[in-house]
Amino acid sequence: MLMVRCPDFVRSSRDEIDDERTRTHLPNWAGPTVETVQCLCSGKRTGMNKAREVLGSFKARFGTGASVYKAPGRVNLIGEHTDYNEGFVLPAAIGFSCWAGIAPREDRKLVLYSGNLGEGREADLDNLGSRGSGQWSDYPIGVAWALEAAGYRLRGADLYISGDVPLGAGLSSSAAIEVSTGYALLSAAGHAIDRTKLAVLCQRAENEFVGARVGIMDQFVSCHGQAGHALLIDCRSLEYRAQKLPAKVKLVICNTMVKHKLQAGGEYNVRRAECEEAVRKLSAALPQVRSLRDVSSEELAQNRNLLSETLYRRCRHIITENKRVQDVAELFEQGKVVGLRELMAASHESMRDDYEISCRELDVMVEIAGRQRGVYGARMTGGGFGGCTINFVDAEHAAEFQARVSAEYETAIGLRPDIYICEASQGAELVEAAAENLTRVIR
Ligand code: GLA
Repeated sequence: MLMVRCPDFVRSSRDEIDDERTRTHLPNWAGPTVETVQCLCSGKRTGMNKAREVLGSFKARFGTGASVYKAPGRVNLIGEHTDYNEGFVLPAAIGFSCWAGIAPREDRKLVLYSGNLGEGREADLDNLGSRGSGQWSDYPIGVAWALEAAGYRLRGADLYISGDVPLGAGLSSSAAIEVSTGYALLSAAGHAIDRTKLAVLCQRAENEFVGARVGIMDQFVSCHGQAGHALLIDCRSLEYRAQKLPAKVKLVICNTMVKHKLQAGGEYNVRRAECEEAVRKLSAALPQVRSLRDVSSEELAQNRNLLSETLYRRCRHIITENKRVQDVAELFEQGKVVGLRELMAASHESMRDDYEISCRELDVMVEIAGRQRGVYGARMTGGGFGGCTINFVDAEHAAEFQARVSAEYETAIGLRPDIYICEASQGAELVEAAAENLTRVIR
């Protein structure tokens, strides 16, 4: 398959990313209202309005003009928990974003303000520490830490940060704040933007400074996303291909409105540790195996005796999911939707039964979606234990799907879901503000 090559530095810096600390904190800001969310994602409100709003708030707070950068959240179409196993994923950037207004300062201070929380924080670029403190500001400060540690000398800056990615929904609010502030900090210090390097350093910030052992998918697609396309990413080489989505297919995201927090935090890292343990055990018989990416279904079957039943099922999910990602990308490449439904259903079942990261609300949402007209496939998306499902829906039926799923889910679960009809969007970009008119510059 035709992929964009990544520069050599990526391998070495990724190899150093390995941290035993646990996934703990999400940015602690208030989410958007349901109405705002629905109209944003359906494109009725443009990013320019939000940029204007950020500029106004920046001026009111800091008294000067600013440059505004934005980075999107994402939805993963297929390929769950495969990224940290050096496998394949197929995410798309979406129309929910985080915006960072920035103006450089003469000193080495970072003065941060969260528009969502109405809360300020300060940090000293010469004394950032190496671990966060459990605050929302760990994300921007962690990114500054990772950039400086990688040799990018930054300037002090005033930063106003405001986002509309729904929180705890598995749509990557963390990556959006990391990438938007990273892009802003690099630009304010006059550094050229290397998107892959920015993604890797944002992941490092989250792994090491924040303490969440996430893979590369979210930051990567937030940096590289392309309108109308998903990205087929090889998470080992970081090569990727922009995959055009069939024109008649809408991405519809159904938010279950639940996040089983106790499970979500610890269990993500437990799954990761289980995969690592399985690699250790399998490599006794298969010395070439460096990650589950390297194991075939046949090899897994032949060496089943080396693994506990649980580890065997974890491996089976990763190995079969990697294949499904490539199969879905291939269908899209051929402009086909036939076969999509089965691949999406198999992915959901594998997450439910083998990887055990689904929950009742997600299963009910997927089951309801599968009964609607014009649906080409449905599955849970993201880390699991709540959050959202992703549905491929015929454009003609999307509105009907939204209304019916909403009503049926509310009847079954007793919660009204948010349902977003989305477009695949552009990755991180600069939105430059002049006094009277705003000019959008895409780098
Ligand atoms: C979270 C992580 C990603 C990925 C997904 C599961 O979103 O941030 O790196 O592992 O879970 O696919």
